[in-house]
This record gives sequence, structure tokens and C-alpha cells, in this order.
Amino acid sequence: AHRVDNEYDYLFKIVLIGDSGVGKSNILSRFTRNEFCLESKSTIGVEFATRTLQNRLYKCMDPVQKYFRRRVTIWGGRKGIEGKTIKAQIWDTAGQERYRAITSAYYRGAVGALLVYDITKKQTFENIQRWLRELRDHADSNIVIMMVGNKSDLNHLRSVPEEDGQALAEKEGLSFLETSALEALNVEKAFQTILKDIH
Ligand code: GTP
Ligand code: MG
Repeated sequence: AHRVDNEYDYLFKIVLIGDSGVGKSNILSRFTRNEFCLESKSTIGVEFATRTLQNRLYKCMDPVQKYFRRRVTIWGGRKGIEGKTIKAQIWDTAGQERYRAITSAYYRGAVGALLVYDITKKQTFENIQRWLRELRDHADSNIVIMMVGNKSDLNHLRSVPEEDGQALAEKEGLSFLETSALEALNVEKAFQTILKDIH
């Protein structure tokens, strides 16, 4: 059936958090517009962008396509969202304290969070604990959290081993992936994992 863009069954608010410069705004533009900017400026205040996704129904497809689809778009998610249209509304704010908007308004109604650090900057990884505390203080206790180590294309400059990210994620009970907004690596998957885990 034909659908216009602003029709959807579910609207999910997802917030982006993490230190300044880790790549939050580029992860957002990669996911919502397939764009990347090498010289992006620090975010001031709050911005948001949306992307509407279809939760695929497999049973209507032929087996070959079904197999292919499963590999490229692991969708599915919880029961009840089969075949539904989901609008992801993703909020982005400044990592820098002085540019941040009022915290409680930013987190209000959020069902998912993408917690970002930069694999080439150890300090941004060490600050993850600080961001987790902020989530605990301001967000809903059921919020689905995905931690990502961004800039995986800069492996030669890496200062946070992937295993350290994995270990922290396990300890804190978070999902974890390394991403590259530049190379469009795992960005799709990171958001899909959040959307799939939202109840
Ligand atoms: P604030 O708005 O200040 O909180 O920063 P931010 O987290 O939004 O970072 P932003 O997206 O503006 O990216 C900061 C810098 O990192 C920019 O120069 C980007 O081009 C660069 N960058 C972002 N993602 C990647 C990536 O995956 N790989 C590489 N090599 N550079 C990236
Ligand atoms: Mg930004």
C-alpha cells in the first residue's frame, strides 16, 4: 500500500550522547541523510533528524530474497511490530557542557540512547561512566543503551582496544559496536539494534 512519509505506526525518540568531537552529528547525518562532513562544527543547543523504517515482513517474500533481506536488514524486533512503520526521531546535542541544552528536556520521552566515544581518544572512553551517570539521573530507567566506539577507520591511531569496549559493555549490560560514520560502517546496525531492543 502507498504510504506518505509522515505516516507511521510507532515514533521512537533516541538520544545521542558522548564527548565533543566523537562524531555524534556525523553518525546522525550518516543515518538520516547518508552524508558525512570532515569539517563539521560543534553542535550548539539541540538538533534532531528523523528516519522512517519499515519493519520487514518476511513471510510474503520468496525464499531467495528472504535470505538476502535477512542478511542485510536484520529486523524483526519484539512481537507486535511485524510489518509496522517505525519513525526514529534522533536527537543530537553538544558534547561540550557550555553548549548543552537543558538536560531533562533532552532525555524526556527517550526510549533509546546511543552512547558514543572515539576509539582514538582514551579520555572520551573514560568519560563513558560520566555519561552513564547522566543517563541514570535523567533518563527513563528502561532506556535501551547502545555504546559505540566511533572512527573505526582510524585503526592506526587507535588508543582504545575493541576488547576494552566489549568488556565495559558487558560489565554495564549495554550493547556494543565499533562504527565509522566516515565509512558508513555499522551505523545502520547500531540504530537497528536499538530499535529492535525497544519494548
Ligand atoms: P559536538 O557537536 O562538539 O559534541 O561533536 P560531535 O560528537 O557531534 O562530533 P562531529 O560529528 O562534529 O565530528 C567531529 C569530527 O570528527 C569531525 O571532523 C568529523 O568529520 C570527524 N568524524 C566523525 N566521525 C568520524 C569517523 O567515523 N571517522 C573519522 N575519521 N572522522 C570522523
Ligand atoms: Mg555535534
